[in-house]
Amino acid sequence: MRRILVLVALAILACPFAASAQVKVDPKLYGSPEGQVCIKCHELKSPGLFRMWKSGRMGQAGVNCYDCHKAEKKNGSTPGNPGGFDHRGFWITTIVSPKDCSRCHKEQFEQQQGSHHAKGADILNSLDNYLGTVVGGKACEVTGCRQCHGSNVQVLKDGKLDPATWPNTGIGRINPDGSKGSCSACHTRHRFSKEQARRPDACGKCHLGPDHPQIEVYTESKHGILYQAFRDKLNMDQNQWVVGVDYQDTATCATCHISATPNQKSTHDVGSRISWTLRPPVSKKLENWKQRRDNMKDVCRQCHGDPMVDGHYTQFDNLVELYNNKFAIPATKIRQKLMDTGKITKADFDDKLDWIYYELWHHEGRRARHGASMMGPDYTWWHGMYEVAKHFYERFLPEVETVMGGKAAAEPILNEFVYKDPMHRWYKEGMSKEELKRLDDFYQKRYGGKEAK
Ligand code: HEC
Ligand code: HEC
Ligand code: HEC
Ligand code: HEC
Ligand code: HEC
Ligand code: HEC
Ligand code: HEC
Ligand code: HEC
Repeated sequence: MRRILVLVALAILACPFAASAQVKVDPKLYGSPEGQVCIKCHELKSPGLFRMWKSGRMGQAGVNCYDCHKAEKKNGSTPGNPGGFDHRGFWITTIVSPKDCSRCHKEQFEQQQGSHHAKGADILNSLDNYLGTVVGGKACEVTGCRQCHGSNVQVLKDGKLDPATWPNTGIGRINPDGSKGSCSACHTRHRFSKEQARRPDACGKCHLGPDHPQIEVYTESKHGILYQAFRDKLNMDQNQWVVGVDYQDTATCATCHISATPNQKSTHDVGSRISWTLRPPVSKKLENWKQRRDNMKDVCRQCHGDPMVDGHYTQFDNLVELYNNKFAIPATKIRQKLMDTGKITKADFDDKLDWIYYELWHHEGRRARHGASMMGPDYTWWHGMYEVAKHFYERFLPEVETVMGGKAAAEPILNEFVYKDPMHRWYKEGMSKEELKRLDDFYQKRYGGKEAK
């Protein structure tokens, strides 16, 4: 008996946060009596909404409409909640911001406010935004970019929300109270479930497409395949969800980027386990990258041995460096020089070269890096480096020649940034006789003649 008790105690010590997996909130903070009035009417007027709320853990625990939607009125020097309005005799807001959630979930709020996710709407001065609002047009910024990144929610005179800025559940939405983001970006209302947020689809609304195909990469990967095979055996509806303890069959986005391991608590700062930024034209290692990488490796080690994990990172680093050194840095330097010498304008997207360069890093180059980071070989090569190489050699370099006024005029700049590097020599010099012979021999042996290939 005593031995069992010791074992149990050891298990709890080894897993210090396990006991805190169930969210604990002071019951005095919720269950406001006014909420019963809201519930009675909404049960009839919006039964779908009511049932969603009721089926979630917060609904079950009695966290009610008024606990979340209640607003303070402006009163003398206290400003009150922006966006407050009178609703059937109650002063409420439609928006329930991360700050409102923080009344009961301070830790998650602080992690989320400090993350890159919370910065998602600060894109107003970016190149992509110029592309969205100017080259495209305002309406696509509202219904495109900002549905993922977040709007700047504006309150109209009567307290209602400006429809140009809401509905919106963008990841870095700027709320009337100044807080950033929307928790329902992942915990869809009104269930607000952990289980749902643990599923890859929660991230897939935003993390997909030509410039950041994370869900496609994941679907292609072994982890994604195993997710499809064992999606009902992962205990995702449980309060505690520690990799290797509560499930083992695969890793989801949340496993690697958010959820707990036996050594780490879950975190709402999605950047705390990544070491590179794969977004800019040339990738860089982040501040404290070693610590961040160790945090991620700790996740991997619950299912893999060190050589597998370190081997993955070696392959991934090599791909990022290859992309940087062979293509991204030369292309960036050449374009800069052409701008500095007035061969192309400094404005974006008004020269053909701007578009080629943009797709090279923002689409093709990112796909290659994202594929390599999360084990999606088709994205690393066919959708990634293959396209980078093709467009570098067959579009970018020829366009530099056009801009310079011909091959001869372009020679010095291309020699300086491209051809002097042995990695690019093949393009000018072609294959050597020996290489051609080796290739020919290979096809002879494999297919018994060149025609058959
Ligand atoms: C007597 C019925 C009734 C009561 C009581 C009631 N609601 Fe509503 N509520 C509605 C109806 C119907 C709508 C649809 C739009 C409208 O008429 O305002 C609505 C709309 C809303 C909206 C969206 C408003 C908007 O303009 O974006 C919120 C949020 C809301 N209710 C929350 C609450 C809360 C919180 C309470 C309790 C403090 C409450 N309701 C009490 C009937 C009611
Ligand atoms: C845990 C907090 C929470 C509780 C409890 C809650 N809400 Fe909400 N509600 C939200 C959030 C978050 C939004 C999304 C608004 C936003 O921030 O964009 C929302 C939006 C709404 C909307 C407008 C959006 C829509 O889909 O039309 C209505 C109406 C609403 N809530 C009614 C209710 C009613 C009625 C209840 C009680 C049965 C309730 N809420 C309980 C957090 C809550
Ligand atoms: C007034 C207090 C209060 C507020 C405000 C509040 N919550 Fe909660 N929340 C709780 C309580 C209590 C629980 C634990 C329910 C249980 O498991 O018994 C909980 C649990 C949760 C969970 C875990 C659900 C699960 O599936 O286990 C999530 C996610 C969550 N809250 C998100 C939110 C979000 C997002 C907001 C703001 C829109 C919010 N909460 C606002 C009290 C609150
Ligand atoms: C489908 C959702 C979605 C749409 C639509 C979208 N983005 Fe993004 N955007 C993302 C995601 C997700 C990332 C982060 C990708 C990553 O980390 O690999 C991102 C990254 C960015 C970045 C880089 C941020 C940084 O910190 O380096 C900028 C800038 C940006 N987007 C601007 C825009 C603009 C402007 C538009 C519209 C013209 C737009 N995006 C449309 C989801 C979207
Ligand atoms: C990027 C997606 C995402 C966003 C945005 C998000 N969450 Fe979560 N949240 C998750 C995931 C995934 C889990 C489950 C972690 C696990 O496996 O236990 C979770 C779990 C929780 C829990 C349960 C306790 C815990 O930390 O595991 C609470 C409470 C919670 N979230 C509240 C919030 C609040 C409040 C916000 C807004 C400030 C928010 N979440 C925004 C993805 C998100
Ligand atoms: C097996 C673990 C694992 C899974 C599953 C996983 N990721 Fe990743 N993710 C990684 C690793 C490793 C990196 C690169 C980390 C680094 O830079 O050191 C990464 C990088 C990222 C980045 C950073 C990209 C950038 O531009 O800098 C984003 C965004 C991301 N993952 C989102 C997702 C999404 C969304 C999913 C699910 C569809 C997912 N991840 C699934 C391990 C994983
Ligand atoms: C509503 C859209 C949206 C959803 C849902 C979403 N993200 Fe993101 N995510 C973004 C955007 C936008 C960025 C880039 C923000 C920026 O850099 O400004 C981003 C960035 C990231 C990064 C890079 C963080 C860093 O520090 O550089 C990671 C990792 C990530 N997301 C993981 C996830 C995971 C895992 C999920 C699901 C549990 C998820 N995201 C859900 C929009 C979203
Ligand atoms: C929950 C367990 C689990 C976690 C966590 C996990 N993996 Fe895996 N991973 C697997 C399984 C199972 C396979 C399939 C092995 C096989 O091919 O038989 C796999 C496959 C792989 C592969 C082989 C891909 C291929 O196509 O052959 C690599 C590389 C890999 N994982 C790296 C990682 C890295 C790096 C991390 C952490 C960022 C990680 N894994 C996290 C379970 C996990």
